[in-house]
Amino acid sequence: MIFRQLFDPETSTYSYLLGDESTRQAVLIDSVAEQFDRDVLLLRELELELAYALETHVHADHVTASGRLREALGCKVGVGALSGVTNADVLLEDGGVVRYGERELRVVSTPGHTNGCVTYVDDAAGAAFTGDVLLIRGCGRTDFQQGDAAELFSSVRTRLFTLPDDTRIHPGHDYRGRMMSTVAEEKRFNLRISPDRNVDEFVEVMRGLDLAYPKKMDVAVPANLQSGLVSDTQTAERGAEAVSVADVMERHGRQDAEAWVGYSI
Ligand SMILES: [Fe+2]
Repeated sequence: MIFRQLFDPETSTYSYLLGDESTRQAVLIDSVAEQFDRDVLLLRELELELAYALETHVHADHVTASGRLREALGCKVGVGALSGVTNADVLLEDGGVVRYGERELRVVSTPGHTNGCVTYVDDAAGAAFTGDVLLIRGCGRTDFQQGDAAELFSSVRTRLFTLPDDTRIHPGHDYRGRMMSTVAEEKRFNLRISPDRNVDEFVEVMRGLDLAYPKKMDVAVPANLQSGLVSDTQTAERGAEAVSVADVMERHGRQDAEAWVGYSI
């Protein structure tokens, strides 16, 4: 499997590019608007065809690039069925499967951070892309966007901690430089939600966090409900944004832009 963990330094967001080596089909999980050019260039360099731009949930801290990736590359946008996203191509139900080339991701509904959160599980590779429901030694907040601490507790305990112990956990963020974990590691060291804690203790801890209001929330949530494609008025204010692959290649002064542009992925 082709695997690239990508990082957005402003929001400490991880995006994941997964590719099937033989067919060159790929998916990108939790893209970030500001990293659109980086991701288009990488897809080109690795000669991958983006089949799906997937979301683990409607993010409050950054705007997704999914809609623009669809415009530029013709991929499908896939989100959890309960996410509320209005212009996705595929609404993913619990137990659904996302196929790209010869690989597949199983969709596991893991509400609690938002009610539409899903985890993508690659059973063959032993990997789970958890978004914000399970972070390394922590978990996503539960104080807005239909957040529900008891529900998150149940999602982690019954849907994620029941995966094989050596399953790798690939989270949506990390703020301390950690890049991955495993189910066994989180059962042992995730003090918020370890098997020693009960649901009432967890709810109490989450209630006491007193976190700041996310800086980008008022922009990010409405935009992400439309796959990151903001309203016409906002587009006009920003000026026309280039979204084609050709524009991205030119913008970065790639000498081989013409060759790339002529090459249809
Ligand atoms: Fe989130």
